[in-house]
Amino acid sequence: MDAEHMGDDLAEVLFTEEQIQARLAELAEQIWTDYQGKDVLLVGVLKGAVMVMADLMRHLPGSVEMDWMAISSYGSGTKSSGVVRILKDLDTDISGRHVLIVEDIIDSGLTLSWTRANLESRGPASVEICTLLRKPDVVKVPIDVRYVGFDIPNEFVVGYGLDYAERFRNLRSIGTLAPKVYS
Ligand code: XMP
Ligand code: MG
Repeated sequence: MDAEHMGDDLAEVLFTEEQIQARLAELAEQIWTDYQGKDVLLVGVLKGAVMVMADLMRHLPGSVEMDWMAISSYGSGTKSSGVVRILKDLDTDISGRHVLIVEDIIDSGLTLSWTRANLESRGPASVEICTLLRKPDVVKVPIDVRYVGFDIPNEFVVGYGLDYAERFRNLRSIGTLAPKVYS
């Protein structure tokens, strides 16, 4: 679905489909250079990262493997608590592997710092993080994020995999919602 199909549910488009693709192409080039000669395993976190994973990996000029985790982060409403439970674990044994976590957005960083520590405990060769979006609050948690698409203001965003109550994941662009959607 495109921004025009959102009617008055959309307040503002932050990134168009073209802007997202152009930035992912740049990140893919950087990733490919950094991992030269290494066999990288992309690990996506369901469900928000599906679009980023699909497009980022297709921008890579060679073959990579992908796997998925589903985690639930306990918390109220739109804020995560850092208390995490694995709903679906990886199919892959990552010991000795170069793992690149692919995420849609980092807000507090609590979910991702837990995920990274969990993966690091399995004996991989390396674990790095690639996120399309990063919010300013993440500075509160010391987490090293190697690849960032865009830094955004502290606003709730939807589209391109990101949802509000499971809606709007299929919007091609990324934008903010009109206040009436929340009420
Ligand atoms: P933390 O705070 O642990 O949480 O970094 C990251 C997760 O919180 C969700 N999240 C959002 N989802 N629009 C969304 O659709 C947003 O603006 C937003 N901010 C945080 C998301 O699930 C992410 O994985
Ligand atoms: Mg999510």
